[in-house]
Amino acid sequence: MATEIRAARPDELDRMHFVVAYSFTTDRTAEGREGMRHIEEMAAPFVLLEDGEIVACLRVFDFRMLVNGVPVPMGGVSSVACLPEYRRKGYVGMLLRHTLEEMREAGQPLSGLYTPHPALYRKYGWMVAASNLRYSFNPKQVTPYSSAPVRGRAARVTEEDQPLVEQVFRRYSERRTGPLVRSERWWKDAFFRRIYDDKRGLSDVAVWREGDGEATGYVCYETDRGPPPFRLSKVWLREFVALTGDAYQGLLRYMLSHDLTEEIFWFGPHDDPLAYAVDDSYQLKREYMDNMMLRVVDMESAVTARPPALGAPEGALSLGISDAAAPWNQGTWRIESSGGTLGARKADGAADLLMEAATFAAVYDGFMKASDAVRSGLAEAQNGSAALLADRIFAPEYLPRGTDFF
Ligand SMILES: CC(C)(COP(=O)(O)OP(=O)(O)OC[C@H]1O[C@@H](n2cnc3c(N)ncnc32)[C@H](O)[C@@H]1OP(=O)(O)O)[C@@H](O)C(=O)NCCC(=O)NCCS
Repeated sequence: MATEIRAARPDELDRMHFVVAYSFTTDRTAEGREGMRHIEEMAAPFVLLEDGEIVACLRVFDFRMLVNGVPVPMGGVSSVACLPEYRRKGYVGMLLRHTLEEMREAGQPLSGLYTPHPALYRKYGWMVAASNLRYSFNPKQVTPYSSAPVRGRAARVTEEDQPLVEQVFRRYSERRTGPLVRSERWWKDAFFRRIYDDKRGLSDVAVWREGDGEATGYVCYETDRGPPPFRLSKVWLREFVALTGDAYQGLLRYMLSHDLTEEIFWFGPHDDPLAYAVDDSYQLKREYMDNMMLRVVDMESAVTARPPALGAPEGALSLGISDAAAPWNQGTWRIESSGGTLGARKADGAADLLMEAATFAAVYDGFMKASDAVRSGLAEAQNGSAALLADRIFAPEYLPRGTDFF
């Protein structure tokens, strides 16, 4: 049996659509493909052929992800699929390895993905490296803690107002880890619409303007009507961003005034103050959710591209990485924090700290402390102070959280 892995040719995208649509149980027809054209235009397609026939595939978006507010190029892996009769033969594993080389050549030192199968990707060096809480509440049972009047007002906006929303998002993301630098295309096809919705339906977006007219927050949400007789709806709050107290309180009240809603749910940050902003936090259901998986595709450029944590000490440690899927990362690295930058170069000799590439992915963005990796047996320390130094160098300012599903 001969296998081949390569970029898909334009005349193969129909077949690739079939493989993806079958695997994700979406519309396999030409119309279904039409609704996904934007994805074909945004992400590079790779296919695996067995005896000349495409049986597995994936796509790679060209993104930049913020790490403590600094953009680092990232290959966003998506549409990973293999037809059922070809599964468990290692084909997707082969594709993922191939894609690591492609991303490295394309200058993408990081890779991210979203999946319900973390065990699969961890084998190839990705690791859950961000989290969410799924907040849900019945708006009738929740009252804001503060009854102080808020200055400003919420108004629904259209796609034309994208610059306004973008400006708020940029300020919100300034020091965060996980958000993408959103292109115009992304705003159009993945914010105002859901990226994998082939009907291309618009979400509702409302912007908060302060008394002086300045935009300081927004909500983006979708409403699903329920069954008769009352058709009480569920609202998926896709984004809730507020830069000021007035915007936070005002947008919260705006959402709570959706009276025919029995549930509002939001995949929001763990450290969001929502539970304190309401009168009775027991009325908020909160469920822990894994969020994005991250992979360090290229040690040297990934470490160099991110800043050390604010206030991190100067110093160096040697880190031993084992990485079967990306052998160029394998070995000992001297990681140095100096003059407000980070450096990584291959080194000789024994390492202070040893871990798998997947473990390092979660350490890299500050999702897991190196000392916790040691404490749980996921890393081995030859020198106790090295893990503590790594904790301080890689600390995030906010808990890592991907804001852009793909
Ligand atoms: C998930 C899917 C892509 C796996 O494809 P595949 O070709 O069967 O995967 P491989 O054979 O290359 O498996 C590689 C390794 O991952 C493991 N693996 C495969 N699917 C897995 C899963 N769902 N969960 C955990 N591990 C999995 C395999 O056992 C294998 O491990 P091993 O080498 O130690 O034996 C395929 O089942 C599929 O298309 N599913 C439907 C769509 C989907 O879920 N896509 C992924 C969304 S992120």
